[in-house]
Amino acid sequence: MSSLFDEFQLKDLTLPNRIVMGPMTRAKATPEGVPTPLMALHYAQRASAGLIISEGTWPERRGQGYFDIPGIATQEQEDAWRVVTDAVHAKGGRIFLQSEHTGRVGHEVNNGGLQMVAPSAVPADAMIFTRQSGYSQMTTDLHALTTAETWELIADYYKAAVRTKAAGFDGIELHGASGYLPHQFLSDESNQRTDEFGGTPEKRTEFMIRVLRRLIDAWGTSHRIGVKISPNIRYNGIAENEVEETYSILLERLNDLDLAYVAFQTPESLRTLANQPNDEIVDGEIWHRFPYEFIRERYNGTVIASGDLTKELAQNALDAGKADLFVFGRAYMSNPDLVERMQHDWPINETDLRRGYGGGEEGYTDYPTWEEQRAAAELTPSGA
Ligand SMILES: Cc1cc2nc3c(=O)[nH]c(=O)nc-3n(C[C@H](O)[C@H](O)[C@H](O)COP(=O)(O)O)c2cc1C
Repeated sequence: MSSLFDEFQLKDLTLPNRIVMGPMTRAKATPEGVPTPLMALHYAQRASAGLIISEGTWPERRGQGYFDIPGIATQEQEDAWRVVTDAVHAKGGRIFLQSEHTGRVGHEVNNGGLQMVAPSAVPADAMIFTRQSGYSQMTTDLHALTTAETWELIADYYKAAVRTKAAGFDGIELHGASGYLPHQFLSDESNQRTDEFGGTPEKRTEFMIRVLRRLIDAWGTSHRIGVKISPNIRYNGIAENEVEETYSILLERLNDLDLAYVAFQTPESLRTLANQPNDEIVDGEIWHRFPYEFIRERYNGTVIASGDLTKELAQNALDAGKADLFVFGRAYMSNPDLVERMQHDWPINETDLRRGYGGGEEGYTDYPTWEEQRAAAELTPSGA
């Protein structure tokens, strides 16, 4: 039987274990979205993960829903990401970039004042944090992309993917989950279009498929491109009907692309994460339980699960054949050597979510490995 700590062959990329550091926005970039050397240190400290997925990173500036999150749309950003990927590779790690366009999620004060775009001018009924006024209603001043503008935006994803490869990443994960732009195209509530990108479940999957095809073109292979989805999640104001039909078509189309993987996040995990006012979490029908079966039945490739996992839950899911790789999010914030801690049953630090976003090294790069922690304790005379 396989163990979480066995090697895994992700197409041509050998992962030393099945543990994935999940993508986590930490708002540590400059206001212009340039990654910093502190971010390089943070990711390099976590290089023993089988695979690291970077925080959500915008392919073009209108897709920056939150302040101080990084982009990969300029030469300066590409060069700064090169410092991050070099640091991770020097420690023997592997890192994918998560390409995240937030679409209607956000506020123009967070992206330098640009008008935000969406499939249709349907605002998200949800809150967003802004530096100027704290929690605020997300923008209602949306521009509905024309068909021509939608193709231009798909081209922006392509250009960003070319930069991602040039910056030394090992691959790209398209963020198609959590109510961001590709998810807005999937949902019949946020997508009210009548062109080739809307109107039927199949047409609503078109944007995501077209973006993925351009990412594949940019990389030269589909084997280094993955996608994250979150069927029926109620988060960032997204709501979906015809979920089963839409995701059945989507997964069938994803099979044809022969991607590195499909990752998914369950509604359950967001129950814990969604502490924002107005973010309603509801129980779906088939989604009430972990929807592993739904995805496994329809998708032939590698599946990555995420949400409230522990070593035991992940190993059980692996034994039952429910997923292949397992994301740990919050635990990675406070445990740089999470793989070693789980492997040897060493203590796991609690995560302080109050130190999630913004700020400097505190709560970010100052968590020791267990061996450093133990050595420091031995140096401290007992009773001192
Ligand atoms: C601070 C924080 C930021 C996150 N940012 C992202 C993100 O940028 N992109 C994404 O897909 N998921 C994001 N997530 C979700 C995580 O990747 C992961 O799926 C989720 O935390 C569930 O895993 P966990 O229960 O192990 O924390 C974030 C989670 C946290 C705690």
